[in-house]
Amino acid sequence: MGAPPNPSYWVLTTPETDYPALAGEMDVDVCVIGAGIAGLTAATLLKREGKTVAVVEGKRIVRGATGYTTAKITSGHGAIYGDLEDNFGADGARIYAESNEAALARVAQFVEEDGIDCDFERKANFVFAESQDEVPKLKKEVDAAKRAGLDVALTSETSLPFDVAGAVRLENQAQFHPRKYLLALAATIPGDGSHVFERTIAQDVKGTTVRASGGTVRAKDVIVATHLPFEDSGLFFTKAHVHRSYAVAAPIDASAAPDGMFINSGTPTRSIRTIPDGDRLLLQVGGEGHKIGDEEDPAQRYRTLEEYLGEHWPQAGPVEYRWSTQDYMSVDRVPYIGRLRRTSGHVLTATGFSKWGMTGGTLAAMLLSDGILGRANPWADLYEAKRIKPKASFKRFVSGNVSAGKHFVADRLRSDDVDIESLGPGDGAIVRKGAHKRAVYRDETGALHALSPVCQHLYCHVIWNPAEQSWDCPCHGSRYSGDGQVIQGPTVKPLKRLDLT
Ligand SMILES: Cc1cc2nc3c(=O)[nH]c(=O)nc-3n(C[C@H](O)[C@H](O)[C@H](O)COP(=O)(O)OP(=O)(O)OC[C@H]3O[C@@H](n4cnc5c(N)ncnc54)[C@H](O)[C@@H]3O)c2cc1C
Ligand code: FES
Repeated sequence: MGAPPNPSYWVLTTPETDYPALAGEMDVDVCVIGAGIAGLTAATLLKREGKTVAVVEGKRIVRGATGYTTAKITSGHGAIYGDLEDNFGADGARIYAESNEAALARVAQFVEEDGIDCDFERKANFVFAESQDEVPKLKKEVDAAKRAGLDVALTSETSLPFDVAGAVRLENQAQFHPRKYLLALAATIPGDGSHVFERTIAQDVKGTTVRASGGTVRAKDVIVATHLPFEDSGLFFTKAHVHRSYAVAAPIDASAAPDGMFINSGTPTRSIRTIPDGDRLLLQVGGEGHKIGDEEDPAQRYRTLEEYLGEHWPQAGPVEYRWSTQDYMSVDRVPYIGRLRRTSGHVLTATGFSKWGMTGGTLAAMLLSDGILGRANPWADLYEAKRIKPKASFKRFVSGNVSAGKHFVADRLRSDDVDIESLGPGDGAIVRKGAHKRAVYRDETGALHALSPVCQHLYCHVIWNPAEQSWDCPCHGSRYSGDGQVIQGPTVKPLKRLDLT
């Protein structure tokens, strides 16, 4: 698997890992596929309960969405509790709050018990409105969040450098460095019959046997924690739709930095936090989310965030870090956690964290490990992966699938109007010659790579992303490096190589 070209602050400030690849056959209690926050937390919990586990990661651990996140650990997921009450009732909203608070507490407990140095800091979380029109929505949110048991208040006082019409303040939340935290957890997994494997791509799951590059893992239970399940007989790709967002970070004097974690309730989204960076502080601003394939100029997304940061915090230094990633949005804002297939209680999955996977991935791990350990969990019904909530889901279900369907057809007809010779190093384009299309990329050495544009997941056509120098699939979010290697699933196969002529 390849790597994205804009490494995140989290990736750049932590060591590269070097776990072995799987070689041969083995037996364990649980095989966990995917080493992001969901997979590594589940593996850690299960190992500590006496199970033997094998973590199977296609690239290096914590280099997927979790290595590129904003890393707020909060139950304040934008203005969500009003919607949850409407769609899942007051009990549903309460369980959502309770389970996310428990996930936050679980992270805090790991940090405390293991003495993990991961810049874990308690902060208040703010959901702010810039216009008076949004205030009624915030009032509804505060009432619903209070009924759900959260310690919230409506305020107009924040440490942001501009006035807000109102803000929901939620106490005692947290932020951290996700890779420092998870690399420390991962280091506790190998030994006593448990393993972490990197550069090992799972190819399929038959029963509870995982066939992967390099070998086979026979297990009693399997957790597919690959962000979107790569093995998707449950058709999760029809109800978890991919959305990409961007982040920039610049140094700032502590006296000018806001204290807290912030996200607006309107659009375009602006998500704000500070990052302790040794003896200095960075300010991170994220947002500019969009569906994959709907953006002509992704580099502009970074420029827009840089302008926002510079306009509101003129004291900040120049932007030093830029990164982006994507997450899967569930159709009713609640993650899917449970059985991958209706027919088996031993192949489990978690997806659709809707950009709140720090708590979502942790609570998924808690729920799935409870299931494997045979313990009843009172949150299981809310997150049930096979649920159907037509009222809450219909609009987003249709819009997500219409979008994928539109790309399946339209991207087959489209090609970029460029001459191959005009491609500079690091450029890519879809080039048509007669009836045939090729995804052509010129690498930094000047060599040309000709690939089939057909995504190896479900055969949509990829498009070139110049900001990330990747081939992105607009249907379900697979990403490939310029030379066609897999950066991100659900695909497990690279783009096919073609002859340039
Ligand atoms: C811009 C942005 C900002 C965000 N900010 C926040 C935030 O502030 N707070 C918050 O709570 N959430 C946030 N999120 C959401 C959060 O980052 C994600 O929900 C979470 O990281 C997903 O974790 P995961 O473990 O499911 O997936 P990942 O971290 O992507 O892990 C999946 C792993 O599976 C591996 N894999 C895939 N296929 C295979 C295969 N076939 N074989 C082996 N391995 C495979 C991948 O390589 C990857 O390492 C944000 C999301 C975005 C997009
Ligand atoms: S990711 Fe599903 S077709 Fe490409």
